[in-house]
Amino acid sequence: MPPQYRQAGPDNPSRKVITHVCGIVGYTGADPALPFLLEGLERLEYRGYDSAGVALVEPDGVYVEKAAGRLSSLVAIVDKSRPAHVGIGHTRWATHGPPTDDNAHPHTDCTGRIAAIHNGIIENYRELRAELQAAGHVFSSETDTEVIPHLLEARAGYSLGDAALYARQRLEGAYAFLAVSADEPDAVVAVRQASPLVLGLGETGNYLASDITALLPYTRDVMILDNGEMAVITGRDVEIRDGAGTVVERAVSHIEWTAEEASRGGYPHFMLKEIMEQPDAWSDCLRGRIGADDSILLEELGLCPGDLESVDRIQLIAAGTAYHACLIAQRWIEEWARVPVRVDVSSEFRYQRPILSPGTVVVAVSQSGETADTLAGVSLAKDAGFPVWAVTNVVGSTLAREVHRVLYTRAGPEVSVCSTKAYTTQLLVLALLADALAGVHSTEPRASVIPHLQSLPGLGAEWLSERRSLGPAITRVASSPSVFYIGRGVDYAVALEGQLKLKEISYIHAEAYPAGELKHGTLALIEQGVPVVAVMSSGALLPKVRSNIMEVRARGGSVLAVIPESLAGEMDDLAETTIPIPTTDERVAPILAALPLQLLAYDVATSLGRDVDKPRNLAKSVTVE
Ligand code: G6P
Repeated sequence: MPPQYRQAGPDNPSRKVITHVCGIVGYTGADPALPFLLEGLERLEYRGYDSAGVALVEPDGVYVEKAAGRLSSLVAIVDKSRPAHVGIGHTRWATHGPPTDDNAHPHTDCTGRIAAIHNGIIENYRELRAELQAAGHVFSSETDTEVIPHLLEARAGYSLGDAALYARQRLEGAYAFLAVSADEPDAVVAVRQASPLVLGLGETGNYLASDITALLPYTRDVMILDNGEMAVITGRDVEIRDGAGTVVERAVSHIEWTAEEASRGGYPHFMLKEIMEQPDAWSDCLRGRIGADDSILLEELGLCPGDLESVDRIQLIAAGTAYHACLIAQRWIEEWARVPVRVDVSSEFRYQRPILSPGTVVVAVSQSGETADTLAGVSLAKDAGFPVWAVTNVVGSTLAREVHRVLYTRAGPEVSVCSTKAYTTQLLVLALLADALAGVHSTEPRASVIPHLQSLPGLGAEWLSERRSLGPAITRVASSPSVFYIGRGVDYAVALEGQLKLKEISYIHAEAYPAGELKHGTLALIEQGVPVVAVMSSGALLPKVRSNIMEVRARGGSVLAVIPESLAGEMDDLAETTIPIPTTDERVAPILAALPLQLLAYDVATSLGRDVDKPRNLAKSVTVE
């Protein structure tokens, strides 16, 4: 039986709640805690969030106040006369599930004496929740977070630190949490497991935060917690214990950053920070979605059983960078699953009277989930009775609410107008979708793409850590009125995204062409020194692209080649500059190839002194037609 389509809702697995990339603050000391908690949360607002809350430790229990929406909603209702000296605060940015008051952090145990806040994903929360409920614990939110205070409650009689060590043993995933208890009224406990946590040492007390930005007006002396570590802080003491529970010494670092630098994690621009964050975003995107046998866990991805079987055709719609992700996905889905795919720019689709045959699923791809043209395309498809799915980064966005299924990219908030990590995580989600479709629709034997997708975070992180300056190539591109990008097959789509990055932030004219098409007109524009970026992410059709590059070289064009390390030698005689990328399976190579193209655009734009994060005339989210 074909799957029944219904609006995404609490009973629909595609709305499963996971919180991620949240802001965390904590304080214990001689001063009232609330002013720091609220100011710290305000300083983390730039990260993006959808609800906020605080917990203060008081003699008869923990006072919790929380509200969906802006921090100002919390400030309006919180009792500012509370004198508590210990507390925790949180801004939640959900990747799954509705941003409601109930789902906002902090969450408490059954007694209301323990409160916890959390950042990240707890993969085994369903099992833990069932276990705790069977033991009599009562839950009041849909979050994965709520298992934490109940796990701590389950260790009644132990110190808060020992209970936290127990919780750390039980929790699976990548997360950080803080907890307080009215039974240990001086302490804040912190656990870090792959989500950042910084401990600040102040004059009057000690602090915790997910991000140094929150601490800077109060202290510049910090200790960074390592993965697997647990800390118990009081106003006077700090104790850090490692994975085995052994106390560890940690050196104090003095932070010289300005608050603005700190909000960018020390990077000069959000765009660079977001480029560098991509390997982590890729890990988050894949986390919990792959089974032991390399199968894709459809419900974790946002789909329901039976969704894929009835798909005969896919219509992708999107704008800007997301459109380029769709062009790559089209190749993947058609090649791997042999399911026909059409891609349209949303602003065209909405006025085209598209012919959608029965069995078509419309998939709208949008970082923000608010792009007016994409939403209009979705309405059109829904009105015509077609199932509509979304790939988006923002929970609670209009798109997420409008469609029948939501596949979240989990890139975390993207601040820079120029999209980077949202784009590559869109590619990852679309690759998972393509592979899942192939599993259902293709009879052709094929090697699994999953291990290669899983190797991307490691390869990307290594490549980014070794990033070398492109020196003269940057100068050449920066001083050219026009730059051309070429590629064949999927690399044409990669080239399209590369040229958009350059245009957006450097304001240099750039165009992308299928490499074989250059000679049908545009070659007339190639003359001495004109930069041509040749994208060969996997080396597929290399001899053909080499011929196209020779045509460019014969006219004096200056070639910059993006090519796998193992093939870089092939460009020795042709390219002025070669940027080797890690050699990997050709199906996933387009994701890695995005990195040098993003950095090329970034380096050129900064060399020209452009306002990289806020390029002229552009908006992060275009909510008008
Ligand atoms: C704007 C942004 C682009 C983005 C496009 C689509 O033009 O500047 O970076 O690709 O909108 O946005 P969406 O949020 O729908 O992906």
